[in-house]
Amino acid sequence: MGAGPAGLMLSHLLAQQGIESVVVEIRSRQAIQETVRAGILEHGTVNLLVDSGVSDRVLREGDRHDGIELRFNGESHRIDFKELAGESVWLYPQTDVFMDLAARREADGGDVRYSVTDTSVHELEGRPKLWFTDADGQEFEVEADFLVGADGSRSHCRRQVPEAARTQSFHEYPFAWFGILARAPRSAEELIYANSEHGFALISQRTETVQRMYFQCDPTENAADWDDERIWAEFRKRVNGNGFELKEGPVLEKMVLPFRSFVHAPMRHGKLFLAGDAAHTVPPTGAKGLNLAINDVRLLFQGFESFYGSGSTTLLDSYSDRSLDRVWKAQHFSYWMTSMLHTVPGADDFNRARQLGELRSVVSSRHGQAYLAEAYTGWPGR
Ligand code: PHB
Repeated sequence: MGAGPAGLMLSHLLAQQGIESVVVEIRSRQAIQETVRAGILEHGTVNLLVDSGVSDRVLREGDRHDGIELRFNGESHRIDFKELAGESVWLYPQTDVFMDLAARREADGGDVRYSVTDTSVHELEGRPKLWFTDADGQEFEVEADFLVGADGSRSHCRRQVPEAARTQSFHEYPFAWFGILARAPRSAEELIYANSEHGFALISQRTETVQRMYFQCDPTENAADWDDERIWAEFRKRVNGNGFELKEGPVLEKMVLPFRSFVHAPMRHGKLFLAGDAAHTVPPTGAKGLNLAINDVRLLFQGFESFYGSGSTTLLDSYSDRSLDRVWKAQHFSYWMTSMLHTVPGADDFNRARQLGELRSVVSSRHGQAYLAEAYTGWPGR
């Protein structure tokens, strides 16, 4: 269930091994394509896209980033990923990952049903069944060896797991992100993660002429209350200074993005496996969400490949533990980046000075920088 990057990638990998799957999705292909999502791919994610034949566009049209800047106290400090961790990341929006995957599944004749309704799942502990009504109003029942819930943070599949059979860990933050797309030239070659007394801001990019940026806001903020001038004034306060000035332009889209940490464990119940946001959510500060989802399906694919190849369930049985190992590292990294860079409303002087001490500790230590570089570019897979 779910034709986001996780569901489509898994069905693509399975198809290459002759393993059949049906993917159902409640949203339309158009709606998924128009949703603005994050943009950073770890090198491992790029390798999987390229090596499995999904996308070479990522190499042509994506931008390789060999570092980021941490900006605080009005000064920028570069974290050099290539030098510290020997790796890079790619700026290539999730929308493009989706488009490449959807096109490849379509070209291969994959069975992907968008715009379905009335989905329900049954007999997860026996032989799973999936009921749905397709876009033409026809009802279907699919019976399969396994069901994969890759159906996003509001997962229907996850909700079928009995309470006694799972734990859920949450962390709420006292802020959200205000995200914009703006028509403007790039302000910098790399991403800028800025901490300021007025709150966090992130300067990212999309194309030569369209930029993606975020600033920390109150979770109850209403995007419609913000006109362009008010938005840019907020960015200026947080990022400009000491000779650096953001390039501004008309705001094309604006939205308030939810912000939380969440893990559902184990990521398996009977014949149901959860993957991606269905099982875990991270705040966007570490740029890990999509990368974790792709790692999940890489592991899950290994499990299915081994099951259908040799009948062994060993890799399927260890899927949840192997995935959660990385998920919790990413949870920690995302929480750490968030707490280091955002200001907590009402924080006292001690906390503000401590935070600047933490930022200085990281940028003044090769080991501190290397931890950030390793985590951001992605830990080696297992
Ligand atoms: C983005 O470009 O949308 C983006 C980049 C880095 C993040 C989050 C979002 O950490």
